[in-house]
Amino acid sequence: MDVTALRWSWSQVTAAGPKAAKHFYATLFVIAPETRTMFPTNMQYQEDKLLAALGHMITNMDNNDTLAAFAHHLGADHRRFYGVDVEGRPVPLAERHYIWVGQALLATLADFVGPQWTPSLRADWAAAYEKVAKLMLAGAAASERLTPPFWQAEVISVERRRSDVCVLTVRPNYLCNYLPGQSLPTHVPALRTWRYLSPANAPRPNGTLEFHVRAAGRFSTYLVRRVTVGEILLLGHPAGRALSTYNRAPHRPLLLIAGGTGVAPLRAITEELQQGNGRTTTLVVGGKTPDDLYDHQALLTLAASTPTKSTAASAFEPWLRYVPTVEIGWGWDGELGRAADTALRIGSWKDADILVCGSPTMTRATIAALKAAGIDPERLLVERFDHSVYPALALADTATPD
Ligand code: HEM
Repeated sequence: MDVTALRWSWSQVTAAGPKAAKHFYATLFVIAPETRTMFPTNMQYQEDKLLAALGHMITNMDNNDTLAAFAHHLGADHRRFYGVDVEGRPVPLAERHYIWVGQALLATLADFVGPQWTPSLRADWAAAYEKVAKLMLAGAAASERLTPPFWQAEVISVERRRSDVCVLTVRPNYLCNYLPGQSLPTHVPALRTWRYLSPANAPRPNGTLEFHVRAAGRFSTYLVRRVTVGEILLLGHPAGRALSTYNRAPHRPLLLIAGGTGVAPLRAITEELQQGNGRTTTLVVGGKTPDDLYDHQALLTLAASTPTKSTAASAFEPWLRYVPTVEIGWGWDGELGRAADTALRIGSWKDADILVCGSPTMTRATIAALKAAGIDPERLLVERFDHSVYPALALADTATPD
């Protein structure tokens, strides 16, 4: 298989941008109309993800371990996507679905590569796709013995903390194993849409999960404004590694910086630490105004309930320090300033591991401020909340084949 030729031809497809993805789906839905109902009405997000995933696999086609791990996980995760047969009964993904997707992919490549789409390039693509599809199917088969295709989760409480923020508690039908800091694809059947949500709690013996949602788009607005107790959501396989690797060097202090609902995974991590040795941790939660600190009470309670541990400075120091900070606060007697600035003011953090979670804007600004203050980027862990954001396709070698 000529991987350089694969990468080059792929660069022709990505150069066409969203047009290529539109072409791919239009072809798929003509080849296999029954797949249309599996996808959301608005395909904008899916288009980007499929291209990103395929690009990632092409980039790693000659890196067997990375490719296998990625494709296995994606295949296992694809067990949550069901089609329906002519009588409307659910049909799980099977080999024929992969064949249809492969056909649509080759047809798209043929169109966008043009005259340089040779029989040997076609054969290489067919082989590469077959390799990926087999790995995905193997990942699905392996996970069948271990987990359900998805979890059904009943909404057991809805707490609207602000007009645009709610805290949902759900109870899955089977215990759902995830690591604090990971996120779960969550489906609202009424919307036919999946989005990632990160639990705000460490795994509990009763299996319940708490999600924090801020109304930003159609999916989150539905959860904030309309979801009701008793409604059933679906949960897919937990994803994300960055934040969940926070305990790689437990001897170091930990600095957690959160903005908005980014506080959720960091609270889950803090709860997990509370159940362990109590690693020295500072949790800085920032908002524009005190009203943004929608989880303040819960975090105060968590900090107050942390057992003390002896340190060089004191025999009874709590291992968790919770530092809320706001940019504007009439009558606010806590810290003032952006989360990153407050964090840098209250400590040096040269020896700390630092986890950042918030909106893309907040995350970018925080990382820039930390780097400008001399923090080693190796010590920064950031979750993108979306395991379809892979290393840029630009990493691939896009040289023209001979
Ligand atoms: C090499 C093969 C494939 C790749 C690389 C791939 C990749 C992806 C990726 C990255 C996502 C986004 C997942 C997420 O949001 O976490 C996705 C979603 C999805 N895939 Fe695939 N997929 C493949 C094959 C298939 C097949 C064979 C089917 C069935 C015909 C399928 C149906 C779906 C559906 C229904 C979604 C969800 C769409 C949505 O709700 O946004 N995929 N796929």
